[in-house]
Amino acid sequence: MKVTNAEMVISAVSQKQYPDSRLPEIALAGRSNVGKSSFINKLIQRKNLARTSSKPGKTQTINFYKINDKFYFVDVPGYGYAKVSKKERGKWGVMMEEYFETRDTLKACVMITDIRHAPTKDDVLMYDFLKYYELPVLVIATKLDKIAKGKRPKHLKQTYQTLAVESGDIVIPFSAETGEGKDDAWRVIRQYL
Ligand code: GTP
Ligand code: MG
Repeated sequence: MKVTNAEMVISAVSQKQYPDSRLPEIALAGRSNVGKSSFINKLIQRKNLARTSSKPGKTQTINFYKINDKFYFVDVPGYGYAKVSKKERGKWGVMMEEYFETRDTLKACVMITDIRHAPTKDDVLMYDFLKYYELPVLVIATKLDKIAKGKRPKHLKQTYQTLAVESGDIVIPFSAETGEGKDDAWRVIRQYL
């Protein structure tokens, strides 16, 4: 998809602040610091529209990015960051449930995992949470640039198996550094819109 217009519309902490247009939405989920914001930036070819950081926990709100006046990418806060207080974790849960439970314009979720490692327990919980809401999930196994080419099949298999990826969902190897996997990701996302 050729992105001619991308704008950050709102950083929301609760439902009242979600945009009220009826455009379809694609949410981005994944562990803190895994590369969710980098994925969005790569797809829309903006350096830093979605703010990235080498420090985990950068994205603390639900951020709506309007793309080509056609749909929203919705960047949600990451999970699994150890140094988060119990109170913060509670807030995260409330925010996520409110969004995933009530948002009827939500079409699918892109879940980002790190291709170098087997998905974590938190990743498995997240995948199951999304499937509970009967959402199609596109798994993006990112940081592909960090593993040797010969090891790709092994790492992909590990991702499919650990998450127990349901039929109909697919895993795409991806790198925000090199752009590999970008066209495949767009192809799948476009089908959900
Ligand atoms: P939070 O908002 O804190 O949850 O993080 P996030 O998931 O949005 O991660 P972000 O996009 O900010 O990226 C975290 C770090 O990983 C940054 O230092 C990125 O440059 C790096 N990174 C993201 N994607 C890739 C990739 O494909 N390859 C490499 N080598 N580094 C990446
Ligand atoms: Mg982020």
